[in-house]
Amino acid sequence: MTPDSFNFLAGLVKARSGIVLTADKGYMLETRLGALLRREGMPSLDALALRLRGAGAEPLIAEMVEALTTNESSFFRDGKPFDHLKKLLPRLAAARAPGQPLRIWSAACSSGQEAYSVAMVAAELAPLLGGRRVEILGTDISREMLARAQDGLFTQFEVQRGLPVQMLVKHFRQEGTRWRIAPELRAMTRWQYFNLLDDLRGLGRFDVVFCRNVLIYFDAPTKTRVLAALAGQVAADGVVYLGGAETVLGLTDRLVPAAGERGVYEPARPAARAS
Ligand SMILES: C[S@@+](CC[C@H](N)C(=O)[O-])C[C@H]1O[C@@H](n2cnc3c(N)ncnc32)[C@H](O)[C@@H]1O
Repeated sequence: MTPDSFNFLAGLVKARSGIVLTADKGYMLETRLGALLRREGMPSLDALALRLRGAGAEPLIAEMVEALTTNESSFFRDGKPFDHLKKLLPRLAAARAPGQPLRIWSAACSSGQEAYSVAMVAAELAPLLGGRRVEILGTDISREMLARAQDGLFTQFEVQRGLPVQMLVKHFRQEGTRWRIAPELRAMTRWQYFNLLDDLRGLGRFDVVFCRNVLIYFDAPTKTRVLAALAGQVAADGVVYLGGAETVLGLTDRLVPAAGERGVYEPARPAARAS
């Protein structure tokens, strides 16, 4: 692939998703886009670049971007945020007006393990939530992952990663070699295509936002923009959870680390903000 083709494809991916492909990621384009090239009868990434420069390329561009997303996920990933959530939800439930649901957003939800982990926590905590409804929204730019999440059907390998066996038995039903999430947990969830580069305000306010292991793919200005927008959508007493390799430090002062907690961020009080 010529440097010009690489720069063109990487520029498209960044503009559409925020994902930065550094010059050493040529191999990644080759491996992840191989199937698409074969199907379209294109001999090389240069041919793909040429096609995507032409008119009517939108569907193929979207497919390319989707193929370049990394969708790794697991149940109760990194543990700690879910321990924190167990303490947080009863407090938020007690602070909300009667009838008001708790809204939780799994931004960049991939195949749904994060959102379903939240649903399991909420189900386990039900007696402490006073009958309050919990609504979980999972969003992603991968339509394939969203379809999988919505299906709620996981392989043996997936349920063996991070999910305690008693939770598996309690909240899933076996279907052949796979495991389906229980309907009452699925009923707490809704799934929607949403790009974190787009205007978040249409999604409404959330009590809790999980935005984990996606900012790592963005450059600093994009991280800043997304974090500031997230801060605007989270309740004043709510939290944003980020991944273990992600932080707000040096990016925005609209979210501040929760004292003594890793990966937990709270909206800054307006007076504490410099900008
Ligand atoms: C590594 S997965 C993280 C899944 C889950 N949050 C977790 O931590 O286990 C990253 C996800 O981010 C999604 N993604 C990448 N860019 C995005 C964007 N601009 N808007 C929304 N989702 C995006 C990818 O499609 C992928 O499913």
